[in-house]
Amino acid sequence: MQTDVISAELRNRFEHARRVLVLTGAGISAESGVPTFRGGGNSAVWKGMPFDVISSARMVERDLPAVWEWFDYRRSLLQSLHPNPAHYELARWADLFSEFTLVTQNVDGLHQAAGSRDVIELHGSVWRARCVSCRTSYEIVPDKQRLDDCHGCGAWLRPDVVLFGEMLPPGAFEVAAQRAAKCQLCFVVGTSALVYPAASLPEIAKAAGAYVCEVNPERTPLSTICDEVLTGKAGEVLPLTGKS
Ligand code: OAD
Repeated sequence: MQTDVISAELRNRFEHARRVLVLTGAGISAESGVPTFRGGGNSAVWKGMPFDVISSARMVERDLPAVWEWFDYRRSLLQSLHPNPAHYELARWADLFSEFTLVTQNVDGLHQAAGSRDVIELHGSVWRARCVSCRTSYEIVPDKQRLDDCHGCGAWLRPDVVLFGEMLPPGAFEVAAQRAAKCQLCFVVGTSALVYPAASLPEIAKAAGAYVCEVNPERTPLSTICDEVLTGKAGEVLPLTGKS
């Protein structure tokens, strides 16, 4: 990959932007070894159930232990994985702009592991459990037994992730949308842009006049509205932006 994949226009905008928003999806963690959702392979199926069945609100009601089993399994896989250069590059960007917003659809915690703070996690995190009654959330620490019940009210805990058929966490999208409407430069990294409302953030940014840039080895439904499409892997492309 040559550094000339980044246009002079993008370099200039990157140099001068003050408000930058980045939306990430599963693709940014692919180079860390985390399977994407729609990339094929076995990752989309758990014990014969497609991921949108086992990861559903209905399944929490029907069989919470099975849902926990799936998320415990996913955490056990994540435990041995590490952030890749794309995660580290975005962690660095927080210091380059006066207002930097990182919004992720990922639940893997790899942005935080790379040093990013204040990440807007639209779909929650596998590293948290949440009370089904009072919504108190509890961190899940690697190698430690997670809690089953809420300390406060005694109700069951469930994974603090957004499952199919559920709303996003209160306020998360609204904050992200406000930042998208104000940003000057927006990057969309490693997402198939099929899941809304997350995929509407670059559209909001574009409509408000931001320069929108996609980083993905494949085209997506958002590609046509992007000002620039950087075709390639996030871990190779993002570090090429070159501002220090
Ligand atoms: P997908 O699995 O739908 O899409 C992954 C995207 O990453 C695809 O467009 C790939 O081309 C791209 N990709 C693969 N390798 C890459 C790399 N090295 N660098 C950059 N891009 C790469 O994942 P998401 O778009 O994140 O929601 O999926 C969105 C939501 O769908 C998920 O958050 C999840 C799922 O339903 C919930 O669980 C609520």
